[in-house]
Amino acid sequence: MRKQIAAANWKMNLTLQQGEQLLNDIMAMPHTLAHHQQVIFAVPSPYLQMAQLKIQGKQNVFIAAQNCYSKKSGAYTGEVSVEMLNSLGINFVVLGHSERREYFHENNQLLAEKVNICLEHAITPIFCCGEALAIREENKQNEFVSHQLKESLFHLSAEQIQQIVIAYEPIWAIGTGKTATSEQAQEMHAHIRHSLAEQYGTEVAGKISILYGGSVKAGNAGELFHQPDVDGGLVGGASLVASEFIAIINALK
Ligand code: 13P
Repeated sequence: MRKQIAAANWKMNLTLQQGEQLLNDIMAMPHTLAHHQQVIFAVPSPYLQMAQLKIQGKQNVFIAAQNCYSKKSGAYTGEVSVEMLNSLGINFVVLGHSERREYFHENNQLLAEKVNICLEHAITPIFCCGEALAIREENKQNEFVSHQLKESLFHLSAEQIQQIVIAYEPIWAIGTGKTATSEQAQEMHAHIRHSLAEQYGTEVAGKISILYGGSVKAGNAGELFHQPDVDGGLVGGASLVASEFIAIINALK
C-alpha cells in the first residue's frame, strides 16, 4: 500500500513555546502508526531544530520545512538552503504552496529548480498544486493542474518522481471552511494519477501519494481519506489544535 500521510502545515503561526506544547500534546497520543502511515509537521524555519528533537525516536513521524531556496548557498539573505535542511536531518519540504505562488510570486519554473535541488539532496518535496475558484468555475481545473505538474515535475525520471509527494490544494478551499466534496477530491486525484500514469506508467503512478488540502478537519477527514486516490491530507488550521490533528491522523487508511 502506498504511504498514507497526515501532514500539518503550521504556516506562519504559533510561538516557539506554543509549537513545543502542540507537539508534546500530539506526540502523547496513544495511536501507533502502521508501517504505511506517516505523520509530518511542516513548521516555521526557526522551529525546525526544536521540532526535529521532539520527534526523535518516533516511528514514521517527520519534520518538514515550509519552503527552501533553489540555490545551494550564497548571498540570498533570508533564504533557507537544502544543505541547511540536510544539516538538521530534515527530509521533507513543502514546495509550491499557493500562498508562496501568490504572495512570493513562485512560478512553475522556479519550482522545478527547487524540486531538482531537493532531490539532489535526498529531501522529499511535498509538491502543492491546485486551481483558483475562477478556473474551477470555467471547469478548467484538470488542465490547470496538469500544466502545473508538467512544468514543475514531468522533467523528472521515473525513479525521481517516486520521491515526490503531491498535495492537491484547491485555492478556494484553503482557510475558507469550504472543503472540496469527497467526490471533487477523488475526481481530481484520479486525474492527477492518470496524468502521472500517462507520463510514467500505471505502476509508478500507483506508488505516488497524493494528499488533499483545503479545510480538512476531524469531521471530514474520514470521508476524504476513504476515497481510493486520496492518500491523506495537508492540513492548515486544524493542525494547530492537538485533538483535531490527532483525529485526522486516526482517520488515515
Ligand atoms: P486549511 O486546512 O487551513 O484550509 O489550509 C490548508 C493548507 O493550505 C495546507 O497547506
